[in-house]
Amino acid sequence: MVTGQHRTSPHETSDQHVIGQRGTDQARLSQDDHGPGDSPGGGDSPGDDAGVGAYRRAWERAASDPAEFWADAARAVTWTRPPRRVLDADRPPFYRWFPDAELNTCANALDRHVDAGRGSDLALIHDSPVTGTIRRYTFTELTDEVARAAGALAALGVRRGDRVIIYLPMIPAAVISMLACARLGAVHSVVFGGFAPAELAARIDDARAKVVVSASCGLEPNRIVAYKPMLDEAIALAAHPPEHTLIVARPQQPAPLVPGRDHDWDAALAAATPHPPVPVAATDPLYILYTSGTTGRPKGIVRDNGGHAVAMAWSMGNVYGIRAGDVMWAASDVGWAVGHSYTVYAPLLAGATTVLYEGKPVGTPDAGAFWRVVAEHGVNVLFTAPTAIRAIRREDPNGDLPGRYDLSGLRALFLAGERLDPATCDWASTTLGIPVIDNYWQTETGWPIASSPLGLEPLPVKAGSPSLPMPGYDVRVLDDTGRPVPAGVEGALCLRLPLPPGTLPTLWGDDERYAASYLRAFDGFYLTGDGGYLDDDGYLFVLGRTDDVINVAGHRLSTGSMEAVLAEHPAIAECAVVGVADPLKGQVPRGLVVVKAGVEIDPAVLAADLVARVRERIGPVAVFRRVDVVTALPKTRSGKILRRTMREIADGRSPAVPPTIEDPAVLDALRPVLRAH
Ligand code: COA
Ligand code: AMP
Repeated sequence: MVTGQHRTSPHETSDQHVIGQRGTDQARLSQDDHGPGDSPGGGDSPGDDAGVGAYRRAWERAASDPAEFWADAARAVTWTRPPRRVLDADRPPFYRWFPDAELNTCANALDRHVDAGRGSDLALIHDSPVTGTIRRYTFTELTDEVARAAGALAALGVRRGDRVIIYLPMIPAAVISMLACARLGAVHSVVFGGFAPAELAARIDDARAKVVVSASCGLEPNRIVAYKPMLDEAIALAAHPPEHTLIVARPQQPAPLVPGRDHDWDAALAAATPHPPVPVAATDPLYILYTSGTTGRPKGIVRDNGGHAVAMAWSMGNVYGIRAGDVMWAASDVGWAVGHSYTVYAPLLAGATTVLYEGKPVGTPDAGAFWRVVAEHGVNVLFTAPTAIRAIRREDPNGDLPGRYDLSGLRALFLAGERLDPATCDWASTTLGIPVIDNYWQTETGWPIASSPLGLEPLPVKAGSPSLPMPGYDVRVLDDTGRPVPAGVEGALCLRLPLPPGTLPTLWGDDERYAASYLRAFDGFYLTGDGGYLDDDGYLFVLGRTDDVINVAGHRLSTGSMEAVLAEHPAIAECAVVGVADPLKGQVPRGLVVVKAGVEIDPAVLAADLVARVRERIGPVAVFRRVDVVTALPKTRSGKILRRTMREIADGRSPAVPPTIEDPAVLDALRPVLRAH
């Protein structure tokens, strides 16, 4: 990240791009402000305040009086004990939303819609081109299933506060087990199926999971993914193995169960007593979602119950424009933040129907798959990653396939997870003829930092920008010394504390790591890890990570964890992994290794071995396919490997050679290797 570089004509005042200043005082609500049974559509539901200037008014309200703003939004949630205090700011830099309130997130997502007479409305549609099946659940059916799953987990000893790992493909049991944990007040942690056993074991250990919910297998278009054998391997690797597992048996590849430890999902649910929702503190954790940091050790992002429910309800209506009765499809695996927020929780909290898709944008069976799903289920809002649209575009460059389906119900396409390149944005807008909305957020925030809020007030689009900060987010661009830079100048994207409801209160079991990773760089600010700038109109431009995190096909990965695998090889003296530009996946990792002196090894054999090791240790999701054996790595005089310089050369750019370089000849020798694709 280059700080101090002008991108547009700058204004030289430090704060001129900041829309407002926000108070951090804690506040109290009168008991009369809230009551159980407040309607899900309350607060800032779309339409309440919608119209010209609605966005700015909402942003300013959230900035000047966050307690009042979020208290208002909290009316969309049914509390078993309504909040009297909105924000606990007693222990900065740690903040807690709705510290004295109680609720059950699952009851908010399911039971209350049944209680409101909407039990026969559709809650979940599982569309699975890989198995050729479609299954629909009404709110009543889903509530019953979830209550049984909660009963089954309780029978295995799961209680409020216990952790449950969910390692499942995109099948209804994934949604059901997440909600079942929420019903019990247990804490779920979903692990994406593309991760290898060692990664699963690390998460089992960090969370000290009591139970793991998994399946016999998953189905990728080109192969069967053997979940159960991977789970068995992970349990063997774990220092703190779970007491029990619940296994969904799939006909495509059954798996043997270990007596006493493993239990069949269907049998357990059939035998279970339905469990009622357990009220929990708003500040209790709802889930942990592990995400890649700069080291090999993943960070356990904690999501609370109360702030999360409020943020989900607010954003579903105001950002995505989805209300009760609408159909939302977030085509992301539930192993990622988008899947948690906008496939599972937010649509159901809003009383909308959600689509769970077990397939790919292309190849299941073709690049028209997304449009078929939209038409068949009457999807109103589609949310995916730019890489999925790039994959579709590559196979349907002229955009012919959408024309074969009735897409008249589709109001908008939201894209997030990585930078939205203008060509992909243009293709989607032209082909679909609807708003294509770039929104920027992170696993840590759980909902958009910046977007055009479709439900509140659609904003004019600027190519390459996810538009303006959402209410509750005060985005500042800081230089290396922590001073705000003028508009148009690049710097570190930071968020002024406190962060709004729904964002991470801490890392699982590690307040110190939370503070060290995010809060210490600049006093009073959360460090996003992204570089970027704000333009004269306050529009945000995200230029990419400033750390060792890369985005591969919308999946967040750590180059540090790949380097750790390479470094373990006995022949390797030094290594570096950098994320280089890829036309389909946005970025892909590339390895560079130096062999120890005296070691004789065929570079091709070594490279193949290293590729296999990364797949084996981290998983296929890493897409680690290229490693070059080189004689030396370029470094600064203090020994820091010049990863960014190498990445920029690999991307075809000509970066300035840092003056601190130890030996420019090393970098010169590498240029042809880096430029070769
Ligand atoms: N379980 C097991 N393996 C998985 C998996 C899962 N849930 N998801 C992906 N993988 C495997 C793939 O099979 C592939 O394995 P391979 O090396 O044997 O081919 C590997 O991981 C890499 O997967 P991916 O990077 O997804 O590539 P792909 O070629 O299978 O698909 C896209 C490319 C663009 C179609 C796909 O990446 C995609 O749909 N991306 C959208 C991402 C997204 O929604 N992100 C959420 C954030 S918003
Ligand atoms: P994840 O935690 O997996 O959601 O990844 C978060 C990271 O993805 C961010 O820190 C950004 O680097 C990147 N990202 C997400 N959305 C966008 C976007 N709309 N534009 C640019 N980068 C994005």
